[in-house]
Order: sequence, then C-alpha cells, then structure tokens
Amino acid sequence: MAKAAVILAGGLGTRLRPLTYTTPKPLLPVVNRPMILRLMDTFPEDVTTVVIAVSYMAERIQEFFAKNDCGREVIVVNEEAPLGTGGAIKNVGEYLTDSFFVFNADNFSSINLQEMERFHAKHGGIGTIALWEVENPEPYGVVKLGENTRILAFKEKPKLSEAPSKKINAGMYIFNKKILDFIPEGEVSLERTVFPSIIGQGLYGFEFHGYWIDCGKPKEFLDTNRFLLSRGLGKIESPIEGYLLEPVAVGKGMTGRGYTLGPNTCIGNNCTIGEGSIIANSVIFDNVVVGKNVQIDRSIIGNGVKISSGNVITDRVVGDGEQI
Ligand code: GDD
Ligand code: MG
Repeated sequence: MAKAAVILAGGLGTRLRPLTYTTPKPLLPVVNRPMILRLMDTFPEDVTTVVIAVSYMAERIQEFFAKNDCGREVIVVNEEAPLGTGGAIKNVGEYLTDSFFVFNADNFSSINLQEMERFHAKHGGIGTIALWEVENPEPYGVVKLGENTRILAFKEKPKLSEAPSKKINAGMYIFNKKILDFIPEGEVSLERTVFPSIIGQGLYGFEFHGYWIDCGKPKEFLDTNRFLLSRGLGKIESPIEGYLLEPVAVGKGMTGRGYTLGPNTCIGNNCTIGEGSIIANSVIFDNVVVGKNVQIDRSIIGNGVKISSGNVITDRVVGDGEQI
C-alpha cells in the first residue's frame, strides 16, 4: 500500500561545521551523491511520497528538489522556526498516510525496511522504532526492551550509568497516524517528549543487524563514505592519469597527473590534483584544486578549496572556499 516517508532534515548540522555553514547537512556528498538521495535510494517501492521537513537553509533544499527528479513525489515543507523532531512531524500531518515512515536524514544502515513494515503490521502498536546495539549508548536515544519486543522506557542521551540498555534508536520509525494526537503544538522533541508519553500506546523495537552509522560528525562522515565505498558504490567518472588504491570514487572532469588516490577516498566533480600528491581516507568535494606533493589524510575538504603545493593536511575539516 502506498506510504509516505518523512525525512527530518531541519537540524543545523553543528557538528559538521564549517561545511554546514554553506551547505545543509542533507546535501553534503556521501560517495559523490547528496546524503539525502543515498537515504532515499534505500526506501521500499511502496513509498510513493517523500515529505522533507526542513528549516535550516530551507531554500537550498527546496531548490535542489525543484531541479532533481527522484522518481517519487517529493514535498518540501519549511518550518519558519525549527519545530523539533516531534513538531516537524505534526507540521506535515496533512501529507501522512495511515501508517508512515520517519527517518533522521543522517543515518545509514543495512536495515530491511520491508521487514520492518511487516513487523509493525504484526504488532499493531502506535509505533515501531528501529534499534541498533552499540558499546556506548550515551550520545543516543536508549530503550528498555521488555517481553515481545515492547519498549518499556525511552531515554534520550542518558548518562552512561542511567542508560537502560545498549539498544539505541537508529533514527528510523514507522508510526500510525494516531501519533499526531500525542504531539503538542509548537516546538516538540520526538525523543524527549513524545516517546516517553506514548509508551503505553504500544511502542515496539525492531532490532536489525549488519551495519548502522550516524554520519553527523566528521569521523562518522568519513566512516560512512568509506563504508559505502567498500560496498561498491563508488564510480570512476574521469580518465585516470595516476595511481588508484581502491576503493576510490572520482567524479566528472578531474584533471592532473601523477597523483595517488586512495584507499577510501572520494573526489567530487571538476577537481585538479597535482603531481606527487597523495590523498587517502578523505572526502574531497567539488572544484577543489590540490597543488603538487600535497598529502591529505583523514580529512574532509569543502567545495572550491585551494591547497598549495607541499601542504600536509591530516584530520581536518576544511570549509568551502578556503585557501591553504
Ligand atoms: N524538520 C526538523 N526540525 N528536523 C530536525 C529538527 C527540527 O527542528 N531538529 C533536528 N532535526 C533533524 C536533523 O536534521 C536530523 O536529520 C534528525 O532530525 C536528528 O537530529 P540530530 O541533531 O542528528 O540528532 P542526534 O543525532 O543528536 O540524535 C538523534 O539521532 C540518534 C541516532 O543517530 C536522536 O533521534 C537519537 O535518539 C538517535 O539515537
Ligand atoms: Mg544525528
């Protein structure tokens, strides 16, 4: 049955600054494709409508979807002021189907969403939360799981000593439309306000295995690129006149020669890489010019950055347009 999916994409992306000063997080490239499209690639076919709840840099996201056809109906809804993860869902109520998906825009995983739909239909509660197990649950939403996969408690970013388990909210949900009755007007957090209040309405946890990653921080952003590269998503779209240590992705229009790229490296469109330069474990956005004998490792280099010859750049996030 046709379903709507909501993508929560209104966050400020503070942990990826300075990149997110000039590009909203959902449009940052993951293996040379905007993060939000990589997420939409994983949606089941019955998701016919995608509602994108935006706030920070809303115009950029609206423009992007006006120009790019994704083969699904896409509705971008702007919040004048951020409404929080719960308020954002209430705000798009008119577009929702009887049951619908919700996704954080910055989470990637091997989850089988069709299996999750079957799980939700079988349990018949007000909502299903995808769960992932981690060593340190502190930076996440953490659940206490009871019998029959029922969620008995939800705590957002608890102290380690107060975390009820290591099972965390993986940022993917299926809800029944009835949840709208439990979201007050205005700015509301789904995790802090709504979840604790609907525990009694039948909230279930769907555990999955494989991989899961939140790419909202620099290290995790690089990990996500590396991970998707290792799954064969990288394409080489320019002639290569240097060495490649796979896995590597190269966008269109790359020029230069005598460089070494990789492993675990993504180069965007229209970049120039000078002779003797070595780029490893890094993500380079579009229109970047790298001089000769530059070494880049474990770094993210924004659009239009110019790096002069001989620089060594390690563990850095370089904002759009910087000159080094
Ligand atoms: N529309 C809208 N409005 N979206 C918002 C708003 C808002 O006011 N605030 C945040 N978002 C979006 C972000 O853009 C992001 O896609 C998603 O909601 C989650 O926000 P983050 O800021 O990335 O939250 P987090 O990573 O600290 O925690 C969340 O994700 C964890 C998994 O990565 C929580 O959902 C945790 O419970 C969860 O474990
Ligand atoms: Mg996040």
